Amino acid sequence: MVQNTPISVVTIDRFIIEQEKRFPEATGALSGILYDLAVAAKMIASKVRLAGLADILGAEGTANVQGEIQQKLDVIANAIIVKALDHGGRLCAMASEEEEGIIVVPDKFQRGDYVLLFDPLDGSSNIDVNIPVGTIFSVLRRVTPGGGPGTVQDMLQPGFKQVAAGYVIYGSSTMLVYTTGQGAHGFTLDPAIGEFLLSHPDIRIPEHGRYLSVNDAYERHWSEPVKELMRHYRGMNGRRDPMNVRYVGSLVADFHRNLLGGGLFAYPANAKSPKGKLRLLYECNPLAFICEQAGGAAIDGTKRILEVQPTELHQRSPYFVGSKADVEAAAEYLAKA
Ligand code: AHG
Ligand code: MN
Ligand code: MN
Repeated sequence: MVQNTPISVVTIDRFIIEQEKRFPEATGALSGILYDLAVAAKMIASKVRLAGLADILGAEGTANVQGEIQQKLDVIANAIIVKALDHGGRLCAMASEEEEGIIVVPDKFQRGDYVLLFDPLDGSSNIDVNIPVGTIFSVLRRVTPGGGPGTVQDMLQPGFKQVAAGYVIYGSSTMLVYTTGQGAHGFTLDPAIGEFLLSHPDIRIPEHGRYLSVNDAYERHWSEPVKELMRHYRGMNGRRDPMNVRYVGSLVADFHRNLLGGGLFAYPANAKSPKGKLRLLYECNPLAFICEQAGGAAIDGTKRILEVQPTELHQRSPYFVGSKADVEAAAEYLAKA
């Protein structure tokens, strides 16, 4: 009898099936979407691993040995996700940070009841310098009557309506973290066997954070309450011990560190970018769902992110996400705005 073995054989497929069994009414469609995303993640991971060889294998715009034109990695990642998800009969439309309009599932494929929103490659400016990048995704059930192509209306739902969300980080290892509303669970890709294995079940973010992730080059454009809040996090007003500052410019990487170690990621509004930079539907909502499931919180400054009613596809939002006590501090200071 095999007992007490440290070896994990819980693959992401097995985990998804076991979670689904808790819902006898489930059709398996959502599980199928998650499988397909895991496959896309593996394909993107293998492309990211080759990124440093671009100069050797051929720069963007040049032809490779097969005569194919080399493309930017974020364009490739976008195409991989669309191609991995468009034919499964589970989605009726997709929307990507990389594409202006929605991506309708073509007539030749069956259409399902879900829509997928994604940021194919987050932090893509970091690829050239070998810093982790990521993929972020969000799944919603369509609200327009079934059968036909999905519409923008199906996408413009507040984040609390998400049925699944997750991210992939292409770092020192590749990890996929997702939630379907029953906790946030992390899987690490074992490259030798090409499987995501359960490595971080039921992630819990520490209540108080150690890390502060913010780009303080914008300080001169911040409002007084934001400046005061940042002084608070740095321990400069004597109300708390200073947080350590960590910011790499890949939201996924900064968020992942803070989720596991405790911390706050902030992209406040500033005078030059009154809505901040991050996209509500592709970045803020999915990570907010995961963070809440892990016991953390996310606000736009004053309001819970998941309750914001989107009005446009590429809408931006100020963003404060992470350890609960630190997000509460943001709400307290910014209420004075
Ligand atoms: P993307 O690469 O998908 O456009 O996202 C970049 C985002 C996010 O990953 C990061 O946290 C933020 O931009 C950094 O912005 P600043 O350079 O303004 O700090
Ligand atoms: Mn991004
Ligand atoms: Mn992106």
